[in-house]
Amino acid sequence: MSNQVKIFDTTLRDGEQALAASLSMKEKLQIAFALERLGVDIIEAGFPVSSPGDFQSVRSIAREIKNATVCGLSRALEKDIDACGEAMSVAEQFRIHTFIATSDIHVASKLRKSQDEVVEMAVKAIKHAGRYTDDIEFSCEDAGRTPIDYLCRMVESAINAGATTVNIPDTVGYTTPTEFGGIIQSLFNRVPNIDKAIISVHCHNDLGLAVANSLVAVEYGARQIECTINGIGERAGNCSLEEIAMILQTRQAMLGLNTNIRSQEISRTSKLVSQLCNMPVQANKAIVGANAFSHSSGIHQDGVLKAQNTYEIMTPESVGINKNNLNLTSRSGRHVIKHRLEELGYKTQDYDLDTLYASFVKLADKKGQVFDYDLEALLFFDKQKP
Ligand code: KIV
Ligand code: ZN
Repeated sequence: MSNQVKIFDTTLRDGEQALAASLSMKEKLQIAFALERLGVDIIEAGFPVSSPGDFQSVRSIAREIKNATVCGLSRALEKDIDACGEAMSVAEQFRIHTFIATSDIHVASKLRKSQDEVVEMAVKAIKHAGRYTDDIEFSCEDAGRTPIDYLCRMVESAINAGATTVNIPDTVGYTTPTEFGGIIQSLFNRVPNIDKAIISVHCHNDLGLAVANSLVAVEYGARQIECTINGIGERAGNCSLEEIAMILQTRQAMLGLNTNIRSQEISRTSKLVSQLCNMPVQANKAIVGANAFSHSSGIHQDGVLKAQNTYEIMTPESVGINKNNLNLTSRSGRHVIKHRLEELGYKTQDYDLDTLYASFVKLADKKGQVFDYDLEALLFFDKQKP
């Protein structure tokens, strides 16, 4: 089995469908170019049948993007697949992604069909997509809540019908890592033709487990992860691209898995998506939050000044951030004050560290965070003292 994990980005489809206001075509193109630079393997550009605007956006992304496969979503219906095929016919390489729900609750209440009818619809849709491309992805919507026997039957039928990627979504973010890993393991143990397709996962974050579930899935053999920048997506969102990519990179020696992601592009891509989508990133968000490479306690600051890896398991540079940030607060020690003044161009003979530190702590107690200009003011003030 290959150790290469494909990164399928669905920021422009699952992510965009969760926004209060849609992105313009120009904004979608801007994001698509950023994703291409980031090194994602597949860009899910939209759902062409859903609106003329989405159709045009998918078409222009398909025309412009050269270094990633462009993908369009369709229900398991001929008219959706035709819209996808038409929108993407201008692309050098494209994928049609068709899906149908497989859980009892969706099959009975939403589709109002029998399990046999749903298998038939899936097979028909996959064969129809084959008229446009041989790169066909099929998703078993709500796979996380689908009885395993039926899921195995559906995956086997989809592969026999021509699906080259079969996606196992945890559509409502319901499963736990042990459970989701067990589903992927059962598929590999029980579906006879499983090696003819790539198994993909698409995890939602309703219980905050999307990244953990995606990780366990690749440990059990899945080789495509569907994710979004900053984890944006329906409800609590999707697996966050930057988190899963940095897990695979930071723990490569343990996991033995690779991706094509150029991690230095992560920070700027995250900022672009956050701005264009009007979705702020929480300060303590892993990898891309404002505090992800900030150190506040004196012990931690002293540690990273002595050796960066005491409290940093990856470097800020590896995700495209210039340097870490040492917040000056009442918890900061003398070492970090001296270091910051050195960065600002002061020499130790320019000030008395003990006197300055005493003033600093008093100010920090009142003010919370002390900025560089505060520090310089203290220096000046201390010099003026008789
Ligand atoms: O969450 C989901 O099941 C989906 C499918 C369309 C793949 O977004
Ligand atoms: Zn989804």
